[in-house]
Amino acid sequence: MKTLILFSTRDGQTREIASYIASELQEIGTDTDVVNLNRAEEIDWDQYERVVIGASIRYGRYHPALERFVKKHLQRLNSLPSAFYSVNLVARKPEKSSPQTNSYARKFLLASPWQPDECAVFAGALRYPRYRWYDRLMIQLIMKMTGGETNPTKEVVYTDWQQVASFAREIAHLSRKSAV
Ligand SMILES: Cc1cc2nc3c(=O)[nH]c(=O)nc-3n(C[C@H](O)[C@H](O)[C@H](O)COP(=O)(O)O)c2cc1C
Repeated sequence: MKTLILFSTRDGQTREIASYIASELQEIGTDTDVVNLNRAEEIDWDQYERVVIGASIRYGRYHPALERFVKKHLQRLNSLPSAFYSVNLVARKPEKSSPQTNSYARKFLLASPWQPDECAVFAGALRYPRYRWYDRLMIQLIMKMTGGETNPTKEVVYTDWQQVASFAREIAHLSRKSAV
């Protein structure tokens, strides 16, 4: 049995986090499949003993594909041990980096018919040179208002990889619990 890790990304950071979780799980002997949620058509659920979904925030929202996916696969998601992680830049502030204090994670958990067993919030990446001019300007504005990096030549990764590793251990523990 394997772990299915689905990710919804715009610029790649949520995929990088998915791959990191996969490599941590693989190190402790757990096979994983890492799949782009936006391209997941048919899923052979019987192969999987647990499922993880990660999604990033853009202009205050997750990609609409996340909600569609949850609706379509709700029964499976609620019957398997499962985990969710949210990726955003607000989470670079420690006081806004838990599922209770990060508004994007909190809102998702309150509204979602899928109730994951574990949830984490990770700070994402800021990659000015890769953004289109409008997005660059908007992010610069938000960063200025929130005391963040405004230099448009900078790329900054805020993700705390130790935090990701400990989330991976929680996921592994979760499956052991459910196997009992
Ligand atoms: C156009 C744009 C809009 C964004 N809007 C938000 C936002 O509203 N709130 C937030 O916390 N982070 C926001 N971010 C930051 C992203 O969530 C962060 O860069 C994350 O790493 C993106 O993950 P991804 O590469 O997997 O899509 C935004 C980033 C971009 C490029």
